[in-house]
Amino acid sequence: MTFAWEKYLQEKLIDEATLSARIKELGRQISEDYRDRDLLLICVLKGGVVFLTDLMRQITIPHEIDFLAVSSYDKGVRRSTGVVRIVKDLDHPIAGRDILIVEDIIDSGYTLRYITRNLATRGPASLKICTLLDKEERREVDIEVDYVGFNIPDKFVFGYGLDVDQKFRELPFIGVVKPGAVVD
Ligand code: IMP
Ligand code: MG
Repeated sequence: MTFAWEKYLQEKLIDEATLSARIKELGRQISEDYRDRDLLLICVLKGGVVFLTDLMRQITIPHEIDFLAVSSYDKGVRRSTGVVRIVKDLDHPIAGRDILIVEDIIDSGYTLRYITRNLATRGPASLKICTLLDKEERREVDIEVDYVGFNIPDKFVFGYGLDVDQKFRELPFIGVVKPGAVVD
């Protein structure tokens, strides 16, 4: 059997076992760092959702979750436009709470800079970032990242929450998109 995604895949970058081992470590670290704190995970939709659901099951301390959706990405050029806007806000206020933003990937950094600045105005007790992937060499704005799953090279990736033209978020691994591939 062949799958629709196969023709977009150049190579597998991070397999299921490697993802799950690293997420277990992150969960353990976060559980230690936030012991006796009021932890609220804020997942950035949609890319962060697969990571969130695996990560939260590796966090052994009580915590809550909420969701934020932003748009900034220009599908045509496959990079952030730098103009970010909230398309779905949090359900609840975050004043006084310990916030950990859960993101799929940091690329230019514009999206997370906007999100952290916006959330900071709401008076959280603390505000940190956990990203599964970091394309550090593409960074255009300085941003402090507290937890990183994997540093990856400057390649367009998909799977495990990340899309290629909105598709294939369901794949259990991270793959590199074949240059020039467009999903029809
Ligand atoms: P930034 O604002 O440039 O840091 O872009 C961050 C957002 O762009 C991420 O949250 C993703 O949604 C999207 N993005 C960046 N790189 C990739 C990629 O390689 N594959 C899929 N989405 C990506
Ligand atoms: Mg994202």
